[in-house]
Amino acid sequence: MTGAVGAMSSGISSRSAPSIDLPARFLAFALVDLLFVALTAPFAMPLLLGGYYQSKLLVFVHLNTIGVVGVMIVGASYQLVPVVLQTPIASERLGRVSFWFLLAGIVAFLSGLYTGRLPLLGSGGTLMVLGFAIYIAVLVLTLMRAPVIDIVGWHIAASLFGLAGGMTLGLLLALNRGAGFLGGMTLRLLATHIVLMVGGWVMVLLMGVAYRLIGMFTVSEGSLHPRLAWLGFALLVGGVWLLAVSALFGLPTSILVAGAGLFFAAHVAFAAQLTRLYRLRRRRGIDIHMPFMVLAAAMGLLAMGLVIVGLVTDAPALSLIWVAAVWFGIAGMVETAMMGMFYKIATFLIWLRSYAPLAGRYKVPRLEDLYRRRLALIGFAVWLAGLIVSAGALLLDSRTLAVVSGMTIAVGIGCFLINVVRIARHWRTPELQPRVRTNAR
Ligand code: HEM
Repeated sequence: MTGAVGAMSSGISSRSAPSIDLPARFLAFALVDLLFVALTAPFAMPLLLGGYYQSKLLVFVHLNTIGVVGVMIVGASYQLVPVVLQTPIASERLGRVSFWFLLAGIVAFLSGLYTGRLPLLGSGGTLMVLGFAIYIAVLVLTLMRAPVIDIVGWHIAASLFGLAGGMTLGLLLALNRGAGFLGGMTLRLLATHIVLMVGGWVMVLLMGVAYRLIGMFTVSEGSLHPRLAWLGFALLVGGVWLLAVSALFGLPTSILVAGAGLFFAAHVAFAAQLTRLYRLRRRRGIDIHMPFMVLAAAMGLLAMGLVIVGLVTDAPALSLIWVAAVWFGIAGMVETAMMGMFYKIATFLIWLRSYAPLAGRYKVPRLEDLYRRRLALIGFAVWLAGLIVSAGALLLDSRTLAVVSGMTIAVGIGCFLINVVRIARHWRTPELQPRVRTNAR
């Protein structure tokens, strides 16, 4: 094994990891969803200007949040959590069952949102909740068997509470769309659903796992500042739940601002930790995931800053500032980070499957040879340009800029997906040249 591969093998795959088909099916599904995001972005981005609560925007939002982010997180967790905890996954079979629930649920839920057919919406929401519930059960059982739970494990555990709360509220909101039983509570539940799903589940998990992955990608594991990491964790969980509870019960703005302030401080701690890990890294040079993670951290700060400004200025529910906060949190922070990490994780897993058994005997490609670095960087620059134009569109309330941002984002995703196809082609090992000629007679 090469040095780079050796360093990654203990963090991404080990004897505790499940069979590769389990994470692979989720990643493949998420990437198909991402293709849909790219194809619909030029039409969907102008919807952002209309504020929340439109059916078509809800479809676009959930295509991103559940279809891409949620599904990718579930698949990546099945791969990484057993490795992080050094404990085999509690049940691979249940993991596969959760895939079918999520697949059927997402298709039905999105079709129900789009067509307004309430039975589809309700049954889709229920199937998704069952799929997520199985995922939670598998992870909880795995956590319970782990010999030790470190800072990363605590992030994973805390994220499951966020998901459990957020999905329960999501199902209530779905059932409410026809019946309207939530009445005046609807907006409060919606706000809590968003905080728990985006903040309590996705961001908590992303930050925790990033500590482990970035340390490994850049060979800086020993440089993680433990006290800062624990402080960041406390600020994150405290901030998210204070914000969620105060949004749910309509508590005074000062408490909401306090929650958002803690949440913002957690993003500052994360950015500081990232800076430290990169500064002290032993693998010099700019690794492909680095620009993505730096942008993700900056976008997280921007999203949280917008929430605080929205609260302090008492922005109305339909204000674009809320749309901007959620958009930069989901696309800007979470999806950017995922693309960067995908380049490392997927490449490694495919290399491990196709080339590891042959390394030493044959001339196998390096990890970096599985995709085009220049295309990855062009894709990053275009994606960043798309985010900047989308900020302009929201700031100026401009439909034209929104369409341009959608087209730019589509091109950025396109570059990423071309590289994904290049990586996926190595699933079947090509003919390789032997490293040493044998003197066979
Ligand atoms: C079990 C899964 C989920 C269900 C059943 C669900 C359901 C819903 C429903 C029904 C709404 C519309 C609210 C209304 O009409 O009152 C909504 C809005 C929203 N959800 Fe979800 N959701 C789920 C997962 C997620 C996830 C994973 C995220 C983020 C990571 C998310 C983020 C949002 C956002 C940002 C909105 C507001 C969108 C807008 O109004 O334009 N949801 N959700």
